[in-house]
Amino acid sequence: MKRISILLGAFLLLALTTSESAVANAPTFSDDIAPIVFNKCTTCHRPGEAAPFTFMNYREISKRGRLIARVVDSGFMPPWHAKSGDYQFHGDRRLKQSEIEEIKAWVAADMPEGNPDKVPALPKFTDGWQLGKPDLVVKMKEGYTLHAEGPDVYRNFVIPLELKEDKWISAIEFRPGNRSIVHHSLFYFDTEGSARELDAKDPVPGFRRMAKGLQRNAIGGWAVGGTPRHLPGGLAYKLPKGSDLILSTHFHPSGKEETELSTLGIYFTDAPTQGFSVVQLPPVFGALSGVNIPPGEANYHKEDSFVLPIDVRAFGVSAHAHYLGKALDMSAELPDGSKRVLLDIPEWDFSWQEQYNYTGWVDLPKGTKVHANVVWDNSSDNINNPNDPPKWVRWGRESEDEMGSVTLLVVAKNPSELDVLKQSYRDHVRKAASQSVVNRFAGSGNNRKSLIQRITERFDKDGDGKLNRAEQEEARKFYRRNRR
Ligand code: HEC
Repeated sequence: MKRISILLGAFLLLALTTSESAVANAPTFSDDIAPIVFNKCTTCHRPGEAAPFTFMNYREISKRGRLIARVVDSGFMPPWHAKSGDYQFHGDRRLKQSEIEEIKAWVAADMPEGNPDKVPALPKFTDGWQLGKPDLVVKMKEGYTLHAEGPDVYRNFVIPLELKEDKWISAIEFRPGNRSIVHHSLFYFDTEGSARELDAKDPVPGFRRMAKGLQRNAIGGWAVGGTPRHLPGGLAYKLPKGSDLILSTHFHPSGKEETELSTLGIYFTDAPTQGFSVVQLPPVFGALSGVNIPPGEANYHKEDSFVLPIDVRAFGVSAHAHYLGKALDMSAELPDGSKRVLLDIPEWDFSWQEQYNYTGWVDLPKGTKVHANVVWDNSSDNINNPNDPPKWVRWGRESEDEMGSVTLLVVAKNPSELDVLKQSYRDHVRKAASQSVVNRFAGSGNNRKSLIQRITERFDKDGDGKLNRAEQEEARKFYRRNRR
């Protein structure tokens, strides 16, 4: 009797699957699509996050099915700009090709829902501090109100920390008060009180331009979609006692007037047993980096390389450029002649300033040549070009100016050798800087101005066409600082 019922059951199952197979072959929301979207999209497409609409259920997702198929097929979503290289990154958001095909097949079959009882639960999203309770929580002193419409805004906010002793930081978690307008924020500290002075002079909360003489020390940042992470291997940023934190925030208006009040959680750690260093190529180096992009030029290119004087281990890499950035990459040529891709961003997007962290240490032996390429597009075909028609664009901190470099974060394999690397990199920067001064004197076509004229323009605050004593002092300070 028992055997018969098993047989009967098997027969029924067989009949069911064959008769329904034509329809059942199409992916359904409950079985196939929800697990992909909930895990790869809903982190950002949920209430309170940066994405413009939410993907929490069948209705919300099927409503935008065709658009979803298009953006996953083109690679626009999920946002992730590093092409596969030789190393994996933490938090890689990309879909597998099979997942993209599944979404397309689902949309082509008119988005069947399947059995609504079988929809998986939404993942548990953390709404509180992602890294647990911070050691210090600080907030902007007052809210900053952004206009409803108009250009993007860069603004710097000073947060006094009142630290009585030097501290070491392993992570900073940034929580925007208003995710619909905060695009990214970079963190610095200032030990000299200069940022406070700039803040005090400006009637609106925060201040606009970093003064040329302001010594700011970078300690990480946050960008839309970024996941906070502790530095690996017990590494830490030093935060000297008495320093002020500076948030350098990029805002993007949302269509209605909104106010931002950012909160930061700071995680302290013990003094590390070793330091780390940056290898930034080409070095972001004031007016001296020689970027001067003609209008209409679609492939303005700079490259730079640096030979490692010691064995290093890399743990992270990031790229930075402004609106004209087009492509950035960094590679390593090992002493045995083999080549490795450290980062490849074939389509730069200014909106996603991502810190990429390798899932393991990347060993680069002494003698490895690290090489970076940066390409800018100053033609009118670049839809992000802020100038219509395009204009000459030079190096500068404002987003209408340009920069462009790739930064590798490394430790010395033998920690006591880190200073050898730092010294050698400083020499590299000095050489690059003097070379670009030479270039500026030598290659003066019609569109190039003399160095004196450029310095005058840059530091002539009162606009009288010459530098008074205070302006000269500013210029001297700037160049002295950048030459170290
Ligand atoms: C890291 C955060 C993040 C993730 C993950 C993410 N999105 Fe988005 N998505 C955004 C943001 C931010 C925007 C708005 C982009 C803009 O306006 O430039 C957006 C916009 C969109 C749009 C609108 C595009 C348009 O042309 O208007 C669609 C559709 C979309 N996302 C689908 C998806 C899908 C599907 C996934 C998962 C496969 C996904 N997103 C994953 C942040 C994210």
